Amino acid sequence: MNRLSPVVASLFSSLAELPPDPILGLSSDFAKSTHKDRQNLGPGVYMNEHGVTPVLDAVSHAAHRLLARPHIEGYLPIDGLPNYVQAMQKLTFGENSTILPNVATVQAPGGTAAICLAAHLVRRILKSPLAVAIPNPTWPNHRGIFSELDFQVLEYPYYDSTRRAVQVEEVLGYLEGLPQRTAIILHACCHNPTGKDFSPEDWRMLGAFFERSSHIPVIDFAYQGFKYGLQEDAAPIREFVARGIPCFIASSLSKSFSLYSQRVGTLHVVTSSPTEAGATLSQIKQIVRAIYSNPPSRGAQLVAEVLTNPDLEELWIRELGVMRQRIASMRSALASGMKQRGFDFEHVVDQFGMFSFTGLTQEQVQFLKSKYSIFLTGNGRISVPALNPSNIEYVCDAFAAAIKALPDSK
Ligand code: LMR
Repeated sequence: MNRLSPVVASLFSSLAELPPDPILGLSSDFAKSTHKDRQNLGPGVYMNEHGVTPVLDAVSHAAHRLLARPHIEGYLPIDGLPNYVQAMQKLTFGENSTILPNVATVQAPGGTAAICLAAHLVRRILKSPLAVAIPNPTWPNHRGIFSELDFQVLEYPYYDSTRRAVQVEEVLGYLEGLPQRTAIILHACCHNPTGKDFSPEDWRMLGAFFERSSHIPVIDFAYQGFKYGLQEDAAPIREFVARGIPCFIASSLSKSFSLYSQRVGTLHVVTSSPTEAGATLSQIKQIVRAIYSNPPSRGAQLVAEVLTNPDLEELWIRELGVMRQRIASMRSALASGMKQRGFDFEHVVDQFGMFSFTGLTQEQVQFLKSKYSIFLTGNGRISVPALNPSNIEYVCDAFAAAIKALPDSK
C-alpha cells in the first residue's frame, strides 16, 4: 500500500532518471554480463597479469605492522593524519622543498574529494562569476565536480585527434582569451583519457603564462609514478613552484598504492606566504567539517607507514615500477597483436599511464559491448592494465572485428 501523501510523493517527481556514470557505470554492465569471455576495460584500476587488483606487498607489510601496535579508533584531525600529510608534502614537493611553509595540505577521501575541496575553496575566493576551463577531452568528473558547484565549465582544445597529439599553441591561445581568475584544470602526467601529456617545454610555456596571469591552476595528480617515476612525474609541479605560481594540487593514491576503496588522496594549496597558508588551511578545514567532518583513517595510516619506513618505501617504489612496466608491455602487446591483424595501433605505445586512447569510435565501442562483452568508455579509452596475456588475443580479435564491421569509422 502506498502510504505517502500525494504531496510527499510529488516531491521527487521532478527528478529525471539519469544515465549511469560513463566510467564506473561500466562495472555494473560488466557484472551483469554472462558472456564467458567478458572483459572490463573501463575504469582505471590496475590489474596484474592474472587479472587481479593486487594488495601491494609494501601495503600488506604495513598492515601487519599497524596491527601489531595498539591503536585507538578516534576521529582523525579535520585535515587528516599528521604523518600522512607530512609524507605527502615530501612526495609531492621533494625531500628538502623550501616551499612547505607556504603550503596548506589536507588529507582528502580520494583524488575526487581533493578536487572537490579545491573547487569549494576557489568558489570562496572568487565568489562570482565562477568559471573553470577543463581540457577537451578530460576525465568526465572534472565537469561534474565544478558544475555541481555552479561553475561555468569551458573546454580548452587540448588534443588534436587527427595527429594524436597535444596542441600546446592552441591551448595557450585559448587560455590567453579567458577572463582573469579562471580556474584551469591541468593533468600533471598520464593525461586521462588520452595518455598524452604536455612536454617539459610545454610546461615551461604554461609556467610563463600562469606567472603573468591571475588564473588559478588546479593540477590533477592522480598518476604519480606511472609515467617515468615518482620524482620525474612531479616535474610540472616543481616547475610551477619554482616560478612562485599559487596553485592547487589534487593527488590520489588509489592507483599508486592500489588502495582504491580506501579513498586516499591529498589536496595541497600552494600560497604565497606562511600566513596565507595558515588562513587557507583554516578555510579548507571549515569546508571539510561541513561536508564530511574528517577523513577516514585506514588508507592514510597504511600509506604513512610505507612512506615513513625506508624499507617499505623502497619496496613500494619497486612495486610501482613493476606496475608501470607491465602496463608498457601490454601497450606493446596490443600494438603487435593489432599489427598481426593488419591494423596500425603503434600510437598506443607512445601514450603514458593507465589509459590508451585507442581511436575506436563510439559505434565500434558499442559493437564491442554487444558482440564481445568488452566494456570500454564511449570515447574509445581503455584501461591498459586490464589487458593480460590471457585476454590479449580475444581483445585484439574483437577490436579487429569492430574496425572491419564498421569500416566507415576511423
Ligand atoms: C578513471 O578515470 O577510470 C578513474 O579515475 C576512476 C574514476 O573515478 O573515474
